[in-house]
Amino acid sequence: MIRIAVLGCGRIGAMHAYNIAAHPRATLTAVFDINAAVATEVAAKTGAKVLDSVAAVLADDEVDAVLIATSTDTHADILEACVAVGKPVLCEKPIDLSLARVNACAAKIAGSAVPIQLGFVRRFDPGHRAVRKAIEAGDLGEVHQVTITSRDPGLAPEAYLKVSGGIFRDMTIHDFDMARYMLGEEPVEVLATASRLVDPALMEQLGDYDTLVVTMKTASGKQAIITNSRRATYGYDQRVEVLGSKGMAISENRRPHGMTLHKADFTEQAEPLLNFFIERYSEAFDAEIDAFVDAIETGVAPEVGFEDGRLALVLAEAAMKSVAEGRMVRTSEVA
Ligand SMILES: NC(=O)c1ccc[n+]([C@@H]2O[C@H](COP(=O)([O-])OP(=O)(O)OC[C@H]3O[C@@H](n4cnc5c(N)ncnc54)[C@H](O)[C@@H]3O)[C@@H](O)[C@H]2O)c1
Repeated sequence: MIRIAVLGCGRIGAMHAYNIAAHPRATLTAVFDINAAVATEVAAKTGAKVLDSVAAVLADDEVDAVLIATSTDTHADILEACVAVGKPVLCEKPIDLSLARVNACAAKIAGSAVPIQLGFVRRFDPGHRAVRKAIEAGDLGEVHQVTITSRDPGLAPEAYLKVSGGIFRDMTIHDFDMARYMLGEEPVEVLATASRLVDPALMEQLGDYDTLVVTMKTASGKQAIITNSRRATYGYDQRVEVLGSKGMAISENRRPHGMTLHKADFTEQAEPLLNFFIERYSEAFDAEIDAFVDAIETGVAPEVGFEDGRLALVLAEAAMKSVAEGRMVRTSEVA
């Protein structure tokens, strides 16, 4: 059994903690949160011990590996500390809001063999993964266009948005990674446009956007299009489509079941979409922990690692620059 400690027991940390506690090859050995109440609640439900600092977690011989689910601005420091003591890390996205900080972190951990997995959970979604497998199997031929639709069911709370780092680094970061995963090549050109349509007053106040489109191109000409909205009234809209020279593959939205109702005055009436990420990506969150445990057990580098986190942030920075300057930005300008 791999003994894992979870740092940060908020919205996603608590979910990870329960998944680890239920995992057949892992145990939740310890939790720590600066808000002791949430750590105590998770500990009470799982039998894990509550530790009182990151240092205590790192010094604990009963902790084989660490999952970082604290607020984003703490990830890089904690990740460096874990690597320094040789504890494998699963770090939630993004690594940091600053590319300069991520580059400094990369320099600090360079050469280390400690497994680092990045929390790009969507790579583990069975549908999205099946699209990638179809690409790898040659079913689609050469990839030409990747189209990603990613819309939240509603605007996140203001307190969350204030510290999120903005939509590109907080939300689109998943889609930048998905585009890279499907393209199989690095985008080198990024053109983005962003609007304040869902809550213009709040977005103006935060200097953020709630609605955007990004188009990207690789050196060989492959294209990716991302559309994001912070609010889709019909639910959490998550679709990935890949067009290739021999065909197309689509990973569709998920519903509780596939029954559709057809009557005289309507057709194809279906259940609402699975609401938000914990429900929509529940299998993916389980598979993500499986992959982390596999990486620790086998010593094989995690399939989604630190550099993937860094490169997704490069695309976010390029997109933000594109919006600010109203022009296409080459990734070499920000990397
Ligand atoms: N992969 C995904 O789909 C996904 C989804 C949501 C959030 N996230 C990421 O997970 C992270 C946490 O997000 P959340 O929504 O759970 O936030 P949250 O605010 O609900 O939880 C964060 C928790 O971390 C604790 N914390 C903050 N600093 C700490 C520190 N130095 N040491 C210990 N605990 C600390 C807070 O007290 C809080 O309980 C963010 O980086 C976010 O971007 C990823």
